[in-house]
Amino acid sequence: MRHDHLIGANQLSRADIEAVLDRAAEIDADPSAFADAHPDALLGLCFFEPSTRTRMSFDTAIKRLGGGSVDMGTVESSSVKKGESLADTVRVIAGYTDGIVLRHPSEGAATMASEFVDVPVINAGDGAGQHPTQTLLDLYTIRENAGLDDLTVGVMGDLKYGRTVHSLAAALTTFDARMHFVSPESLRLPRNVRFDLHESGAVVKEHTDLDDVLGELDVLYVTRIQRERFPDENEYREVAGEYRIDADTLDAARDDLTVMHPLPRVDEIASDVDETDHAHYFEQAHNGVPVRMALLDSML
Ligand code: NCD
Repeated sequence: MRHDHLIGANQLSRADIEAVLDRAAEIDADPSAFADAHPDALLGLCFFEPSTRTRMSFDTAIKRLGGGSVDMGTVESSSVKKGESLADTVRVIAGYTDGIVLRHPSEGAATMASEFVDVPVINAGDGAGQHPTQTLLDLYTIRENAGLDDLTVGVMGDLKYGRTVHSLAAALTTFDARMHFVSPESLRLPRNVRFDLHESGAVVKEHTDLDDVLGELDVLYVTRIQRERFPDENEYREVAGEYRIDADTLDAARDDLTVMHPLPRVDEIASDVDETDHAHYFEQAHNGVPVRMALLDSML
């Protein structure tokens, strides 16, 4: 892969994705072989929104490649608090580092930032827009458990504001996956995402009831209702807790169904699912390290 910036999953061809996943598998098999791969690389972590997995797994990934990181810290503790613009912040951090990982509440922030710097910008989530590195680790997890061919994927929860969903859907089109989207009417996929899926010729169906498709699925990707993106708290309350699964729900699923979730979960997957063979979300989170090592290895 040779991209200056990684902003959206639609930038990635099937060959790009497979190259990253293959390299991630090599790293997974023998991480120590990559311990000195990038001894001089310094990664800037700029998170304007909360993060546990994405921030820490990027930090782990660069360190496991022999490099280091500098972290902007929270918005509260940085000069953003004094009113500094995103453009100025990234321009300064680009001068310290070899690449920037950016998470920001505004859709389009990563694109904007990339126009001001000459080091690679990796979008770690821009509002309700995209989260392409999550997609790479999602695809890695799918490949390990269900394979990427002849795949039927169900995606359930907040399809409107869930950026992991928007990126995953775009990438799944390159594998000709059949996609079923399950959500309340008010949280359907945004029109632009539906349009792009339609344009790509993907086989896509929308549902309000998981029972309509559960038995057909190879993968069920559950997402959190993105409370922080609702303009009105009452709208959130109307849908909160509506789309959840527990171990009993999965009685109607195939024995080999892979259940995934980008995490954090709130209550959409009951903890009794954790003990079943369907649960793959913690493994999915752990895959963030080898996959992000592979990505950084190709971009830095
Ligand atoms: C996701 C995100 O930030 O979009 N988290 C993550 O990176 N694993 C999902 C979420 O917050 O619900």
